[in-house]
Amino acid sequence: LVPETRVLAVASHVAYGHVGNTMATFVMQSLGCEVAALNTVNFSNHTGYRQFKGTRATAQEISDIYQGLCLSNLTDFDVMLSGYAPSAAAVEAVGAIGIDLQQRAEKKPGSFFWVLDPVMGDQGRLYVNDDVVPAYKKIIHHADLILPNQFEAEVLSGIKITSLATLAEAITAIHRIYSVPHVIITSVQLFKLSTSGSTPSPPDNFLTVIGSTTKSNGSPRLFRVDIPALDCFFSGTGDMFAALTVARLREAVDAAGDDLRNTRSWVSPDDVPSSKLPLAQSTIKVLSSMHSVLERTVEARDAELAKNIPTQNGDVNPEEKQKREHLRRTKAAEVRLVRNTRFLRDPPSQFEVQEW
Ligand code: ATP
Ligand code: PLP
Ligand code: MG
Ligand code: NA
Ligand code: MG
Repeated sequence: LVPETRVLAVASHVAYGHVGNTMATFVMQSLGCEVAALNTVNFSNHTGYRQFKGTRATAQEISDIYQGLCLSNLTDFDVMLSGYAPSAAAVEAVGAIGIDLQQRAEKKPGSFFWVLDPVMGDQGRLYVNDDVVPAYKKIIHHADLILPNQFEAEVLSGIKITSLATLAEAITAIHRIYSVPHVIITSVQLFKLSTSGSTPSPPDNFLTVIGSTTKSNGSPRLFRVDIPALDCFFSGTGDMFAALTVARLREAVDAAGDDLRNTRSWVSPDDVPSSKLPLAQSTIKVLSSMHSVLERTVEARDAELAKNIPTQNGDVNPEEKQKREHLRRTKAAEVRLVRNTRFLRDPPSQFEVQEW
């Protein structure tokens, strides 16, 4: 188990399957964290099914739950993990909670770390309202670590990532604009970028995770981990990555003889190789857990699809047929979390950190 850690997790709840807080809570609890879940939506299932029922929390409802915690002094969190918020006002409410927790912690210096997943979109398009973007831009400078995907990194930096050079520029810009000390871009398809420069590109069937901690002079110290891409579209993996990172970063910083509070101001001395950064150490463990669980998920998906072949129903029109097939495949791809907790706790070591 990782060092004792109290986490406030702010994200979605779904009745079926594992995304948002139904992913993050289980993952962090499996590693021994005490988790308080503040749910920003209450849905039947994740949106990848293309249909769902349920409600989104208003900013007022989010603030109310937090006020309730304050009333009884239930605010001794070491970490806040914030994910999907359903409106700009909800993002502001989450920001206010982060700032309040930071201020409370300042009386007990710095025992608080905020991991912020700026959930705005993916694959070149926004899936939130336009006004969510400026709402995030206002709160990110309070965060200690942010976890944008490639598209979100572009939105936050204003730099289109088309090459290794522009990728490095985007991360540098994010550190500078938001003075956020730690950034991880959770997946980049490097082989699709132009590869002038010295950094070799991995093969086509790999994903790259890029992390960065600022150096004393403010410039980013980048590291990279290449992982084989599995032939599956998963939902909840961004939240899984974030939750594992909370626990493993806490562990890595502890092992480095520091604590999370110092991680906020922690800058890497110029002679520390990136592979020794707590952020890099935690990332390889995170990715090993992810990969082990996702490999099992693909196996289970294939077995399920093979035994559960759709019945040929004569009166079903092509559209309805396509919809049923989409639902069948989406359900089969749900991350197999609860039967694979051993890989959360004891990941086999299978990945290496590379210097940028
Ligand atoms: P967001 O959650 O904001 O969409 P993202 O697009 O970076 O972020 P994912 O694409 O879900 O999130 O990637 C997060 C992590 O999930 C990756 O770092 C990787 O470890 C794992 N992952 C996701 N999809 C795959 C895949 N097809 N094959 C292997 N690993 C995957
Ligand atoms: N929250 C809800 C309600 C979702 O539907 C999803 C994905 O479909 C997520 C969160 C996050 O998924 P991911 O971690 O793959 O980005
Ligand atoms: Mg994604
Ligand atoms: Na992300
Ligand atoms: Mg996500």
